[in-house]
Amino acid sequence: MRTEKDVKKDINKLVEEYFRLFLDKKRKDIPVSGKKYDSQELKYIVDAALDGWWTEGRYTTEFEKKLAKYIGVKHAIVVNSGSSANLAAFTALTSPKLKEKRIRKGDEVITVAAGFPTTVNPIIQAGCTPVFCDVEVETLDVDVKQLKNALSKKTKAVFLAHTLGNPFNLDEVTRFCRKHDLWLLEDNCDALGSEYKGKHTGSFGDIATYSFYPAHHITMGEGGALTTDDDLLAKIIRSIRDWGRDCWCRTGVDNSCGKRYDWKHGKLPFGYDHKYVYSEVGYNLKNTDLNAAIAVAQMDKLSGFIKVREKNFKLLSKGLKKFEKTFILPKSEKDAKPSWFGYPLTLRKNCGFKREDILKALNSKKIGTRLLFAGNITKQPYFIENKVRYRVAGNLKNTDYIMENTFWIGVNPLVDKKGINTVVACLEETLDSLSPVFK
Ligand SMILES: Cc1ncc(COP(=O)(O)O)c(C=O)c1O
Repeated sequence: MRTEKDVKKDINKLVEEYFRLFLDKKRKDIPVSGKKYDSQELKYIVDAALDGWWTEGRYTTEFEKKLAKYIGVKHAIVVNSGSSANLAAFTALTSPKLKEKRIRKGDEVITVAAGFPTTVNPIIQAGCTPVFCDVEVETLDVDVKQLKNALSKKTKAVFLAHTLGNPFNLDEVTRFCRKHDLWLLEDNCDALGSEYKGKHTGSFGDIATYSFYPAHHITMGEGGALTTDDDLLAKIIRSIRDWGRDCWCRTGVDNSCGKRYDWKHGKLPFGYDHKYVYSEVGYNLKNTDLNAAIAVAQMDKLSGFIKVREKNFKLLSKGLKKFEKTFILPKSEKDAKPSWFGYPLTLRKNCGFKREDILKALNSKKIGTRLLFAGNITKQPYFIENKVRYRVAGNLKNTDYIMENTFWIGVNPLVDKKGINTVVACLEETLDSLSPVFK
């Protein structure tokens, strides 16, 4: 009789063959982002499928442990996207369990307008007011000089992303938050592996968030996570993720508290099943064990991926130096070691080029490009049409400049040295053809 082990061995062999024959194709384009995987991810997904369990399970637990250890914090909690992670993170700060530190409707949260919409949206969804600081054109991160202008009596938190993997000035931001007793949320979705003073980004704020959509440093198909060092915040986050329930049993487990029928909550009768007691305004933001299985395989490759990103970034910096009169090249904080998501380029004032001409030329040569997400988010239709209430600290001059002049190209592990050389050569050719006197 064939055992379970025998059958799994055969399945794994077939998965390997399938990957080798049909999926392991070299790409001809130079993608701005994308997932890199091999048969290991597929074997783990199949393994998770064969468990017949599928919701949060052993792979989720393993990934959460690996991620928390990597970032250097106590808790990691898997969710179904980076946007869900941001929603759960912000909603957690509105929990009554936080007493007077709780964020309430009408409070203000300091952030930037040059970023991804779902960093800002949870603030609006909670009935709070985003207060936008301008950013620096070279780092694309918050201009920390603006923080004190943004402060008011209503300020409760700072919610910032490490833009394109480039850590913001964590010394200044954490000092500001400590001084004014503010929560700090780090959107680390684009910055897995970035460091500041030798510590991973994601370990500085009260809560940090991650996206594992295929564009990111590692993927789980669709997915995200939150990390925190705080036991109470971790409990609240899990509750908000799991319908708001008070019970902290993991999926499939019963009576971890040993008092399942012995609690008194709210105005419910004594002994009401703890599984059906709700103490937060929750959602279902959970992911599946099949997605977590991919993440476990990807986690083992993370340091290799980061090295390629670093190498590609350095090669691009070297190759693009000759265009410094045309482009503002990226810079980092002196204590930062970015794990770059992409390579940003910003056209200099009066350089004589139009961004769309360059993008069209690059895209026609199969070189992927992206803009810096929403540009100035206050100019997006959803802000205007919903009459979103916000405040600006000073002005958004640099944010507008980035909206009009910045784009980024890929440094991801699907791009090799040959690809980087192609990008540099194509840019030279493009700039030459658009204006022969560009140098
Ligand atoms: C900075 C930032 N935050 C949040 C997200 C949202 O992540 P997801 O697409 O997994 O919802 C993204 C998406 O790429 C992002 O770039």
